[in-house]
Amino acid sequence: MRRRWMAAAAITFASVLGLSACGGGGGDTAGGQPSGGKQQVEVFSWWTGPGEADGLQAMRQIFEQQNPGQTFFDAAVAGGSGDKAKALLASKLQADTPPDTFQGHAGAELQGYIKAGDLEELNFLYDELKLQDVFPSQLIEQISVDGKIYSVPVNIHRSNVLWFNPAVLKEAGVAGAPKSIEEFLTALEKVKATGKIPLSIGSEWTAVHLLESVLLGSLGTDAYNALFLPGADWNSAGVTKALEDFKKIMSYAGDPQDDWQPAAKQVADGEAAFNVMGDWAYGYFHNPPEGGLGKTSKTDFDWAPSPGTEGTYLWLSDSFTLPKGAKNRDGAVAWLKVAASKEGQDAFNPKKGSIPARKDADQALYTDYLADALKDWSADKLAGSIQHGVAVNQPWLAEINTQVGLFLGTQDVAALQKGLADAAAANAQ
Ligand code: GAL
Repeated sequence: MRRRWMAAAAITFASVLGLSACGGGGGDTAGGQPSGGKQQVEVFSWWTGPGEADGLQAMRQIFEQQNPGQTFFDAAVAGGSGDKAKALLASKLQADTPPDTFQGHAGAELQGYIKAGDLEELNFLYDELKLQDVFPSQLIEQISVDGKIYSVPVNIHRSNVLWFNPAVLKEAGVAGAPKSIEEFLTALEKVKATGKIPLSIGSEWTAVHLLESVLLGSLGTDAYNALFLPGADWNSAGVTKALEDFKKIMSYAGDPQDDWQPAAKQVADGEAAFNVMGDWAYGYFHNPPEGGLGKTSKTDFDWAPSPGTEGTYLWLSDSFTLPKGAKNRDGAVAWLKVAASKEGQDAFNPKKGSIPARKDADQALYTDYLADALKDWSADKLAGSIQHGVAVNQPWLAEINTQVGLFLGTQDVAALQKGLADAAAANAQ
């Protein structure tokens, strides 16, 4: 186990060093400069990979149709969950050379950009487009400070999804998706006996992604949410138990894959039984080949809330911003208008594997997994994602990632718990 993770860590470090060389996924020319009489708008995200890029392309098409004087410059930086993109973004913001608009998660991550003074407020746009009424008020709170709103949310993603291969479960004698952590461990053991991979896993951030689902499933929703309040007790016996659960579950993980897509693919291809990943995996499984895998739902892959989390939506939301000093401010505002629109959201989300942030979307477009997601979003309790910017700010998340990375080598639960408790004490506000 230790050797495998150290190899994966080396790859990740090398790719971070190569950041500036690989930044810019769209094959366009330099951003922000006029080209052929058109203004370029530099849109910064991390949606380059299979299953990630399809939704962005759908929104780009609408933008280009509606804005013939603007060219979309795709400044996406590869790497799931945006770890590499966010590192590059931080250096661009530091140097006062921001992209015209960038992707940021609603919640603590966005609050960090707001507090740093990186963003223009968007109340003028909310007023002009009457957006206050179309987004859930709790979501607007996550992107506001003192009544000023700082981003346009395009979607709601669910983090706590257990993806599984029905045929692999059947072969192992597992009757259905496990509903508790104990049932999950039993199912993982049964799959192990067949020689298939019980649980697929990607690069290190996917272990943190798994950890948030295990914390939620083991602690319950109220105790999970309390972890992010000032004075929270990360040293509790409940957290110890959750981290022991995490250790046991991780002991069934296959070789770490380079990112979330190859890990998800192991499930769709019948090499692995389970994968815990956000519902962007749905876009990847379901979208036609080229962008996705073109797999058949319920046959090649199926889904359930991650064990112990039924009735709770571990949520996150991608949003776009207007950085102060954007070179092409008008272009950025035009992009935000598309991102805010019903048309833009209904083109983006069915491909992205997310549900729209707007409340008035065309529900008929959200079928199969996405129909379940819409239903659960309106009925479930809410909990905020750790890895995807809702519950913790970026310094806190970086420390959690460090601690989990160390744990993958040492397997030392007590050290992990101490590291997480110290991180909370240093960063909770
Ligand atoms: C999340 C992001 C999602 C998806 C995922 C995997 O942080 O919010 O939209 O891109 O990373 O890359």
